[in-house]
Amino acid sequence: MSCRNKLAVVTGGMGGIGTAVCLRLANEGARVVATCHPSEADRVDDWVKELQGKDAEVAVVAGDVSTAEGGATLMNQIVEKFGPVDILVNCAGITRDSTMKKMTDEQWDAVIDTNLSSVFYVTQPIWTSMTERGFGRIINISSVNGQRGQFGQANYSAAKAGMHGFTMALAYEGAAKGVTVNTVSPGYIETAMTAAMRDDVREAIVGGIPMRRMGQPEEIAQAVAFLADDESTYVTGANLPVNGGLFIH
Ligand code: CAA
Ligand code: NAP
Repeated sequence: MSCRNKLAVVTGGMGGIGTAVCLRLANEGARVVATCHPSEADRVDDWVKELQGKDAEVAVVAGDVSTAEGGATLMNQIVEKFGPVDILVNCAGITRDSTMKKMTDEQWDAVIDTNLSSVFYVTQPIWTSMTERGFGRIINISSVNGQRGQFGQANYSAAKAGMHGFTMALAYEGAAKGVTVNTVSPGYIETAMTAAMRDDVREAIVGGIPMRRMGQPEEIAQAVAFLADDESTYVTGANLPVNGGLFIH
C-alpha cells in the first residue's frame, strides 16, 4: 500500500477515528494535514507531539467545517500553505441524539450542517483542482446508522445516509477524471462519541453485534488506507461497511 508524497487532509483529524486515519496515512507515506474545530486549538500542540512519538509528522489547521465560509476558508488556507490536495477524508462529525418527540430545530440543524453540508463545503473548493490534475481520492466517513437507521437518531441517520448519496453522485463526476469517491460506514467504534452514550444503551447495542465488541479506530483507518491507496484505481461510488457484522445486507 502507498500514498507516497500525496497530500491528505482529514477533517475532524484530532478526533478518535481521525487520529487513527492521520497516523495510518502518514505511515503510508502521505503528507497529512488534520483539521480541527477552532475550539480544539489548545489541544493541538499535545496532539502533534503525541503523533510525533509514533513517527508521524502531521500538521493541523483549525476551521469550522459546518459553514460554507468556514469550509472554504479552511481549504483555501491549506492549499495555499501545503499545495493541492490529493486525498480528502471527510471525518468531522457530531451526534445530538433525541427521539423525534423531543428533537429541537437546533439539534437537527447542528447535525445536518456538521455531518452533511460540511462535506459539500469542504469538497467543493478543491474539486476542480483534483479533476484538472487527474488524481483524487475522496473518502466520506458515514455510519452503519445511515444504512439501517437508529432509534433516537433521525438527524444523524439522515445526514449519514445523505453522505452516501453525495458519494454516489460525485463518483459519476469524477470517474473519467481519475478521482474516486467512496464511503466508509463504520459500526460502533470506541471513541469519545460512543463513550458519551448512556451505558445501558451502549451495552445493549454491543450485545447485538455479531463480533460481540466495538470496533477500534485503527480498523476504520485500515479501510480508509485501502481506498486512499494509489493502486485503488477501480473502486468508486462504493459504501464499505466496517461494522463487525452489525448490519449485513
Ligand atoms: N427500539 C424501540 N423502542 C425503544 C428503543 C429501540 N431501539 N430504545 C428505546 N426505546 C423505547 C424505550 O423503551 C422507552 O419506552 P417507554 O417510554 O415505553 O419506557 C422509550 O423508547 C424512550 O426511550 P429512552 O428512555 O431511551 O428515551 P430517552 O429520551 O431517555 O433517550 C436517546 C433517547 C438518547 C435517543 C436514547 O434512546 C439513545 O441513546 N439511543 C441510542 C442512540 C444511539 O445509538 N446513538 C449512537 C451514538 S454513537 C454514533 O452515532 C456513532 C455511530 O455512527 C454508530
Ligand atoms: P470524535 O472523536 O468526537 O471526532 C469527531 C471530530 O470532529 C472531533 O475532533 C470534533 O471536534 C470534529 N468536529 C465536530 N464538529 C466540527 C466542526 N464543525 N468543524 C470541525 N471539526 C468538527 O468522534 P469519532 O468517533 O472519531 O467520529 C469521527 C467520524 O466518524 C464522525 O463523522 C462520526 O459520525 C463517524 N462515525 C463514528 C462512529 C463511532 O462509533 N465512533 C461510528 C460511525 C461513524 P470537537 O471535539 O471540537 O467537536
